[in-house]
Amino acid sequence: MNIKTLQKKIRDLLKEKNAILLAHNYQRPEIQDVADITGDSLGLSLEAAKTEAKIVVFCGVHFMAETASIVCPDKVILLPVISAGCPMADMITAHSLIQKKREHPGVPVVSYVNSSASVKAESDICCTSANAIQVVSSLVGHDTVLMTPDKNLARYTQRFTDKKILYWEGFCPYHDRLTAAQVKSVKNDHPQALFLAHPECRPEVIDLADEVKSTSGMLEYVKKTESREFIIGTETGIIHTLETQNPDKVFVPADKKMICTDMKKIYLDDIVKALVTSSPVVKVEEGIRVRAYRAVERMLKIPRD
Ligand code: 13P
Ligand code: SF4
Repeated sequence: MNIKTLQKKIRDLLKEKNAILLAHNYQRPEIQDVADITGDSLGLSLEAAKTEAKIVVFCGVHFMAETASIVCPDKVILLPVISAGCPMADMITAHSLIQKKREHPGVPVVSYVNSSASVKAESDICCTSANAIQVVSSLVGHDTVLMTPDKNLARYTQRFTDKKILYWEGFCPYHDRLTAAQVKSVKNDHPQALFLAHPECRPEVIDLADEVKSTSGMLEYVKKTESREFIIGTETGIIHTLETQNPDKVFVPADKKMICTDMKKIYLDDIVKALVTSSPVVKVEEGIRVRAYRAVERMLKIPRD
């Protein structure tokens, strides 16, 4: 079946099953185009919580579907390819976090949403790439915090706070591969372009950025700024949405190889199959969910940028 036929089949099935299709900004273009809503990891989970639909097809990776299950336990959350994970989220387990907490009693744990539900359950509060600074500032009365699992997000946040940030040594293999030398070379070829970096990039790459933003932050920023050319320092899937929303602007990847293979595991066929079979389901076990929800809910009370 060709793309248009598959997309039509998906739209028909979504209607028939009272389902909604959410796609992360890094998904394949044909999936972003057929989705009801595209967005960043947390934004999509909040959309899942808001919808009247009983079934949510989440095109993203496992921790995102889990976050949707945490915030809307009454809905059926489908992740069309169950093996779509996040290597960074897998760099920490609940067990290893419990051990680390014993080394630092009383130090609050801030976990990036890119973590499993069981790690969230062991955390005091969650954060996203859009609100990490505000989350850390909200921990009044604590001079030290522990951020997991992304060392780069932690080191970026450290720039904006007097608190001491201890951090887990995790990283995103795709963002962490981008080097300052690569960025300098692309900047050299595009001297007028603004460089937008994701906070998962290394500190020396962040130093070269005109703006540091979450994926949705980048989309918002590009729409409202006058500049016409941008170097994009995040997973290249976002360039599809940037181009669609800003046909008069030019986007250059900082590194063409910043492609998250897990984000690309889902194809249109998988979505059809998921809707027909109502599987694979991602459901967080209630004991873990309730504790993970506390950390997510605490974050949600803090404004996003
Ligand atoms: P965002 O929350 O900015 O969409 O980032 C998610 C992610 O996986 C970044 O690599
Ligand atoms: Fe995880 Fe990186 Fe892929 Fe985002 S881009 S899902 S952080 S591996």
